Amino acid sequence: MSLLAVLDRLSEVSSFDKTLESARTAVNKALQPQAFKDLLHGSWLGHPLHPILAMVPVGTWLSAGLLDIAPPTRPAATALITTGVAASLPAALAGAADWSEQDDAVRRLGALHAVSNVAALGLYVGSLVARKKGNGGLGRALAYTGLGVASASASIGGHMSYAQSSGANHSVVDARQLTTDWIDLGPLDDLPDGRPALRTGEGQGAPVPLAVVRRGAKVDAFISACAHVGGPLAEGTVEEVRGSECLVCPWHGSAFDLESGQPRRGPTASAQEKLQVKYEAGRVFGKLPDRHVSK
Ligand code: FES
Repeated sequence: MSLLAVLDRLSEVSSFDKTLESARTAVNKALQPQAFKDLLHGSWLGHPLHPILAMVPVGTWLSAGLLDIAPPTRPAATALITTGVAASLPAALAGAADWSEQDDAVRRLGALHAVSNVAALGLYVGSLVARKKGNGGLGRALAYTGLGVASASASIGGHMSYAQSSGANHSVVDARQLTTDWIDLGPLDDLPDGRPALRTGEGQGAPVPLAVVRRGAKVDAFISACAHVGGPLAEGTVEEVRGSECLVCPWHGSAFDLESGQPRRGPTASAQEKLQVKYEAGRVFGKLPDRHVSK
């Protein structure tokens, strides 16, 4: 059985779901207010923050492994390990924030990822203690074991991103399917004012749901599948969030600026795919931006 198949099997184990739900509640309570949680999600950056922060412990610990080979560079290795230990706290907080807003299968693997990271951190702390006490051999042994555990944990995190699409922009998948021609969204007067309506565009094989919002004579149109994990924005609401009129997802409350599609509230860290709009003879038409046209 391949490593990926093993991880897929593990993501189906539901024995610890009750414990994970309690942990999720605790994380949500601890990471308040929402602005703090959004800071950790990376909603302000337009990119998930966790993988960026996680680069520091991974990079410093890997570099320390190389510097530990030769005696003259071992003090530098100790400094790098210390840096990685300090950087693991913000990385863990950002990971916990994202983990708390994912589905069951991702949360199960995420728990394994977190436990592995805590084990790696413990080994590196033990390594620093051993080095401080003058037991360099033990310090290096603990650090190399920690590097192995951290590497295994990183592969779990990679599986969560690539195989389970956690952190991916889920609106892009539908955008890729959608025709790049102008789509007739119907008469302006048929659109309800101030709330999203469902329209569909021609896709490759299946229609693509669109969320269309009319405010007076102005219309904003988006891919309906939410950038976070694909919730139906056409069933969402229009609300003012942090000073902007936003389309709000009914699943986890991500809020997208109606003008730009940029996130104004998490858990999403990605912008929602937005269509260009034109009006002709009382009808509304939408079209994907040219970046989606394949050459
Ligand atoms: S699917 Fe989670 S906020 Fe939309």
